[in-house]
Amino acid sequence: MKKVFFLVGALILTIALTGCNKSASGGSDDDGIQKLTIKFSHVVAENTPKHQGALAMKEYIESESNEKIKVEIYPNSSLFGDDDEYQNLVSNNVQFIAPDISKFVGHNPQFNVPSLPFAFDNDEAAEAFWDGEKGQEILKSLKKDGVLGLYWWPNGGKHVTSNSGPIKSPDDFKGQKFRTQGGQVLESIYSRLGAGSESIPFGELYTALDQGVVDGEENTSSNIESKKFDEVQKYMTIMNHTRVDYAIFTNTTFWDSLNDKTKEIVEKGVEKGTKVAREKAKALNEESLETIKERGKTEVTELSPDQIQEFRDALEPIYDEFEDDIGSDVYKAVREANDEYGDSE
Ligand code: SIN
Repeated sequence: MKKVFFLVGALILTIALTGCNKSASGGSDDDGIQKLTIKFSHVVAENTPKHQGALAMKEYIESESNEKIKVEIYPNSSLFGDDDEYQNLVSNNVQFIAPDISKFVGHNPQFNVPSLPFAFDNDEAAEAFWDGEKGQEILKSLKKDGVLGLYWWPNGGKHVTSNSGPIKSPDDFKGQKFRTQGGQVLESIYSRLGAGSESIPFGELYTALDQGVVDGEENTSSNIESKKFDEVQKYMTIMNHTRVDYAIFTNTTFWDSLNDKTKEIVEKGVEKGTKVAREKAKALNEESLETIKERGKTEVTELSPDQIQEFRDALEPIYDEFEDDIGSDVYKAVREANDEYGDSE
């Protein structure tokens, strides 16, 4: 009788422990692949390089694991938003996130690099920087929190939208208020231009623009188009003055729980996702800009090289202001990436 009680007790305990398991984990059978559900949370829409990269990752992992590993993607801040995704990654409530890194400057000021004005001559130079020694060092800098940076998913240049007058020269910023992704560099850019700024989560941005909490914002064309910000912004200026670049992060609790066979599939999946996110970025941003122009809800302004130069001159002092925080070695690596891949002879 005692034995029966013991067996029933053990069974109940096993069921209870399985039910409590909030994170991705599970057993494996003879093919050695663990049965898992992996969650990937992000804040942008489906028609974006980030979501397309996440989809490619899902397709590869699910098919290579014969569906033993499921990847659930939560776009549009439907699981976690800007304010809570980091903490939930650390707690392993989510296994992958790919934030715009300028939102993580509180964890490492070097995540301000995409916000440095006109830092990269083009996408190729940005990609080369992130893939280089300094970029990789920055990617790995969150290990202290159990957060592992796997790859960079560079997106592209940001443009400015506004409801309170077109932006054609630095003076046009005066008196307007802009939403930023966060961070000291973006804040300093707006204050040097005589504008106010406020960091607002991406999931709340459409409403903030619609209700006039801020006059404008800066973003990639694919984010502006896929979230229909042009519906609530009268003007858009092609600036490419700062960038949106993502890092794909996982956590050590999840990562260390994977056996070799499972990890190999997941790692390869992330690699596939990286390739797709990178390949799609330029094309989607270009297509989105065309769509915005066709929709005709916002007036799109292209600036001449001389007009762009005015912004470069106005924002140049930012480099001195943040050199100590970001590091002269990082500045040097940015310059080297431009020398090798940039536009100048
Ligand atoms: C993103 O691309 O992940 C969001 C960018 C933003 O918050 O503006």
